[in-house]
Amino acid sequence: MDLFQDDLINWFQQEKRALPWRENQDPYRIWVSEIMLQQTKVDTVIPYFHRFMERFPTIQSLAEAEEQDVLKAWEGLGYYSRARNLQTAVREVSEIYGGKVPDNVEELGKLKGVGPYTKGAILSIAYGIPQPAVDGNVMRVLSRILLITEDIAKPKARKIFEAAVEEMISQRNPSAFNQGLMELGALICTPKKPACLLCPVQSHCTAFKQGLQEELPIKSKG
Ligand code: ADE
Repeated sequence: MDLFQDDLINWFQQEKRALPWRENQDPYRIWVSEIMLQQTKVDTVIPYFHRFMERFPTIQSLAEAEEQDVLKAWEGLGYYSRARNLQTAVREVSEIYGGKVPDNVEELGKLKGVGPYTKGAILSIAYGIPQPAVDGNVMRVLSRILLITEDIAKPKARKIFEAAVEEMISQRNPSAFNQGLMELGALICTPKKPACLLCPVQSHCTAFKQGLQEELPIKSKG
């Protein structure tokens, strides 16, 4: 009877997709990837990410760029406020923090466009700090594993899931833990017809034990 954390992390380390933002732990690259991935699918993001990183390889280069050139590189991804906010925030990092992406909740959270999810992703993936990074995929996965019946469409839901992650997150490898939850949501614990028979944490999943995996998460329309 292994720990949930160990099963999740071991699976992630063996099965994770080779994605360009997983090549190193540069907080700037992690940050750009998480902003792009917020409203856009992984397969769409990959070529944009490569091009963006060639054009703006560092905080400094993005801070000094013309906004028009940044928007041009974003063209096709949509939700252009993401690109504008990213450049605003990168300029703040350049001016206030000497070009080093902050490694704490307080300073990161003040940056334009860096919400609770992005903050937790940067802290855990780039800096190895145990902070939750809860998006819709992570809520789906955890609603099934822990049988959380909170309506995930409600604004207060995220805090409930964040509290659950704070209790469970691996202190030894918060990066692999958070990315493991994301990867599980993408590859196995999908919205429809989850692949429970292939799931590395099936033995820890309350919804699977009760045959409720397709009933969760609860998500109202309104
Ligand atoms: N979706 C959101 N963040 C992700 C990441 N770091 N890797 C893969 N999919 C993601």
